[in-house]
Amino acid sequence: MAEVFDAAVIGAGAAGMMAAAVAGQRGLRVALVDHAAKLAEKIRISGGGRCNFTNLGAGPANFLSQNPHFCRSALAAYTPRDFLDLMRRHGIAWHEKHKGQLFCNDSSESVIRMLRAECDAGRVAWRMPCSVESVARDADCYVLRTSAGEIRAAQLVLACGGMAVPQVGATDFALRVARQFGLKIVEPRPALVPLVFDPQQWRPYGALSGVALEAEVSHGPARHATRFLEDLLFTHRGLSGPAILQISSFWNPGEPIVLDLAPELDLERELLAAKPGNRQQLHSVLSTLWPRRLAEQWLAQADGDSSRGHDGARAGGGRAGGGKLDGARADDVPGPAAGLAAMRMADIPDKQLRALAARIHRWELLPTGTAGYKKAEVMRGGVDTRAIDQKSMQARSVPGLYIIGEALDVTGWLGGYNFQWAWASGMACGKAL
Ligand code: FDA
Repeated sequence: MAEVFDAAVIGAGAAGMMAAAVAGQRGLRVALVDHAAKLAEKIRISGGGRCNFTNLGAGPANFLSQNPHFCRSALAAYTPRDFLDLMRRHGIAWHEKHKGQLFCNDSSESVIRMLRAECDAGRVAWRMPCSVESVARDADCYVLRTSAGEIRAAQLVLACGGMAVPQVGATDFALRVARQFGLKIVEPRPALVPLVFDPQQWRPYGALSGVALEAEVSHGPARHATRFLEDLLFTHRGLSGPAILQISSFWNPGEPIVLDLAPELDLERELLAAKPGNRQQLHSVLSTLWPRRLAEQWLAQADGDSSRGHDGARAGGGRAGGGKLDGARADDVPGPAAGLAAMRMADIPDKQLRALAARIHRWELLPTGTAGYKKAEVMRGGVDTRAIDQKSMQARSVPGLYIIGEALDVTGWLGGYNFQWAWASGMACGKAL
């Protein structure tokens, strides 16, 4: 015997629970189906276990999509303040970390408990763990064949998220079902993800694994570049940290990124000012301005590069510390003399110090790829929103089929934006069902 509902929601994550709770509280009979044994794993692991559940500044400009205006309506109808009201009603304490990012004081479990309680208040029927074997549509309803039997529902919501972190149950199920019903997909890719470099060329920098510093990272033509000023982390395989995760969502294979590794300093002025009569070695001086390990490795690399000549200096599949920056700039910026690290400040020609500062302020690198879905926080791309109604999240050509959350081609920056999209799109759908 099939179970009959007004709506079936596949995916009991952030967006799915929001939509199911809202629809249930409006009086609809809702089934919430998820194949995972544990509820909302992504909420649980988010924000280092404290869930960066929204961002006070969340607006359309913080999202990537091939249809950039699509998210406008849902974000305006359900704002971070609305979610804070919900948190307040459940007595959940929170704090702002930085740049409008809001985190739970205790644990992300409190957000999961809140959403579960909201679903229970709407008498949502939980079906989990329950795998969906097939989805079909007959004359008047959607038919789900599941491990818990057949479910029939007049409306179907795909809330199965994206492919990031398959270890906690992420799949491409939403994309497959959307394709089955004739919807287009914007090519999915890992986003908010570390970037990796050619292993051979990255080796000298891999030694810096664990070094973190603030950096400005940019991508795209200088006049229209996308820029983020955030922390950056060296890893064995490449670069990570918020600055890199942010820019990774904009990066495409074959494109360079540019780092300013001392964004808050005028390094040329600092080095020239430190020079007169100074008998300290350059690496000691640079270590007062920069992380010591980075200063030493950077200068050692510069020395090695100049003794090998410029071509040996390319690193990370691109243009590294001691090497030339790019074809145009290489002539303007002479390479440092061998043994630079050990030279006394007073003996180093101004030209060499200027060249060093220029390289640190503009390090152009060519990533060879990303660390993949296993390390990504989100998937970019997804169901093409040009076929989706922006107020209800319903597919225009497929009556009764709704898509919400990360499965859509709406990708937020790092910092609570992706959850805000999950809440807002879930709310829009829950009200429209
Ligand atoms: P979500 O992934 O939450 O839920 C999808 C649900 O569908 C899951 O429960 C899954 O089991 C289920 N499902 C998948 N395939 C299925 C199938 N075939 N059958 C049945 N069920 C299926 N964002 C943010 O704003 N702030 C933050 O702090 C973080 N931190 C963070 C850390 C880490 C490590 C990751 C991986 C991600 C984040 N994010 C984040 C991103 C955020 O978690 C993500 O964007 C939202 O959870 C997306 O919400 P959805 O409801 O769309 O998918």
